Amino acid sequence: MSNEYISRARALMAQMTLEEKVAQMMQIPYAMVGREEALRWAKLGAGSFLHVLGDDAREIQQAACSTRLGIPVIFGIDAVRGHALNDHATVFPTQLACACSWDRETAREMGRITAREVATDGLHWTFSPLLCLSRDPRWGRVNETFGEDPYLTGELAAAIIEGYQGDSLDDPESIIACAKHYFAYGEAVGARDACDSEITYRKAREVFLPPFKKAVDAGCASFMTAYGSIDGTPLTIDRKALHDILRGEMGFDGFVVTDWMNATSLVTQQFVAADPVEAARLAAEAGNDMIMSSPEFYESALRSIREGRLSESVIDEAVLHILTVKMRMELFAHPEKLGRPGCIGCAEHHEAALRAAQKSITLLRNDGVLPIADGVKTIAVIGGNADDIRAQYGDWTYFSHPLPNPEHEPIRPYTTIREGMEALAAARGIACVYSRGCSPIPTDADDLDAAVEAAKGADLIVYVVGDEVPQVGEGKDRADLALSGRQSELFARLRALGIPMTTVLCASKPLAMPEVEAASNAVVVAFNGGAHGGEAVAQALFGEINPQGRLPISFPHHSGQVPVYYNALPGWHKQVDKQKYCDLPETPLFAFGEGMGYAPFAYSDLSFDTDTLTARVTVKNTGSVEGVETVQVYFRDLVSSVMTPVKQLIAYKQVELAPGKAKTVEITLDRMDFSLVNRREERVVEPGEFLLMVGHSSRNEDLLTVKFALA
Ligand code: GLC
Repeated sequence: MSNEYISRARALMAQMTLEEKVAQMMQIPYAMVGREEALRWAKLGAGSFLHVLGDDAREIQQAACSTRLGIPVIFGIDAVRGHALNDHATVFPTQLACACSWDRETAREMGRITAREVATDGLHWTFSPLLCLSRDPRWGRVNETFGEDPYLTGELAAAIIEGYQGDSLDDPESIIACAKHYFAYGEAVGARDACDSEITYRKAREVFLPPFKKAVDAGCASFMTAYGSIDGTPLTIDRKALHDILRGEMGFDGFVVTDWMNATSLVTQQFVAADPVEAARLAAEAGNDMIMSSPEFYESALRSIREGRLSESVIDEAVLHILTVKMRMELFAHPEKLGRPGCIGCAEHHEAALRAAQKSITLLRNDGVLPIADGVKTIAVIGGNADDIRAQYGDWTYFSHPLPNPEHEPIRPYTTIREGMEALAAARGIACVYSRGCSPIPTDADDLDAAVEAAKGADLIVYVVGDEVPQVGEGKDRADLALSGRQSELFARLRALGIPMTTVLCASKPLAMPEVEAASNAVVVAFNGGAHGGEAVAQALFGEINPQGRLPISFPHHSGQVPVYYNALPGWHKQVDKQKYCDLPETPLFAFGEGMGYAPFAYSDLSFDTDTLTARVTVKNTGSVEGVETVQVYFRDLVSSVMTPVKQLIAYKQVELAPGKAKTVEITLDRMDFSLVNRREERVVEPGEFLLMVGHSSRNEDLLTVKFALA
């Protein structure tokens, strides 16, 4: 980054008092402290506020710009799936749903449009993307991730960051991105939010840090420190993580913000600081530049400096990181982002949200019942989640944040699955009946008899299962991943009718639904598809679109089977008949990378040129409709100084093929794609034999393999 910004930041900082410098590190939660207290902080010179919109934000900025040095604040907000805390903004699919598309362009466009709408609201910064890996679906925040794989997560994160930040931070439609939560927050023991991640730094470098390196390389301007701890050391006090690795090795040049009250938690949750003064010193010295929602940090840090326990140079380093980014944003020239007036919720943005939802639809089983045949005269749509936009949205929208607001009037345009099905059925002269049956969370309105009765006359049942917002998000980890409430009971009763049945998962995460997999004629995963999720599901079921989704996350048969992620280490002693658990199948219910469309693809003629590291494979659309195939490339290091996963995704390429057409797909790899992290925490390529696996999903039966050697 050009030194111009750093020298401008340094010149400004030279004029600042110690109090003004510490205030610049403060991020104040407007929704928690209220208007008066927020204005007091603005006059004190607080550097940032979060979760404040519209005129309240303008008032804060005015107060900040009227201080002695007039340093504008930056407003942060969780615009993590569109600017969805604004009830008129375009609500996109969640990251997990978006990840089903495996499409970098979809992620980039979601970022760009979100940035445009956030900036149009006068805000500067989104706390997104989330780069945690979902390797234990019991965790409450799986919906916010790009799934279980480091490579796919890094690719989509880099794309969405480029979308958010555009070509320069002072672009009127750009906002700053935030790579979070650094790091391994999703790996907490028992998937218990914010608990300890019992991993080594070697494991961190092998699995959890690579996506963050891609975020740095994409120019991400801020990072967020995770709540949790690595092997007993809270990230908030871990200078090896926040400074040595992040800045020293990865080259990060933005600023680091803690997560919510991390500094306070050092005293109250993690018990590594005796009091707020000690906590302030530890947090500042570790490399946290901005302190989210720990108001006591201000006085504590000042006291720590005055008592000679904390050096002012540590404060200077933090403030310089913050001011340098503010200079890159040209914040003094325009304290309030301009955006693109009138674009919030515009038709162009909604069309993009529909495209994102369409590309995320993942068809996992189909015995031919889909696409819906002409002979079908009556369809029964069943399930609370088929007609509940709150459940369809999932987390981080105006229904759930900054404060829970389930009574908020849903704002059009949006389409539930029921509405999508009714519209397309009507266009075809097909009757479509709806009955709620039950919702994921039992209520007095549950009426299974009515649903079974409604389904009786149908030629096809579309049954929507899933979860609801009270079961999703931070602090809502689930021990039992089975279909909640009476959903499974209703499945059995509908199945007993003997009518062809398509089951659709409208949920925030994989659920353990072996009964659905075993007895549905078709299974469709939509996760949380956003404003147009219902339309996309209906278009897929009627064959108007050919589903291209591939799972970014594995599904367990049962909660007790977790972890089931595909890139596991070998070594588990086999039981009788190769089964691993004596009471569960060895394989996941649905596998990473899995997904079918209406056009099967055949793979042949895999070759690998070890000089150019180019893989070539022929892919043929053997179906009768055009389709998009995601060619996946995995590898295995056959003998290594540390144990390495049975397979790891290292590349993928999407190809669109007309019926009957074939194409030779070329994918050129890099030697470091075949690397591992050895016991000295060095990333190296160890000479020897490797297996390259290319195909349709991570399942062995879907992969062509070629063995090769690297010198
Ligand atoms: C929350 C989340 C984090 C979010 C931040 C601000 O608790 O952990 O992801 O960005 O606080 O809302």
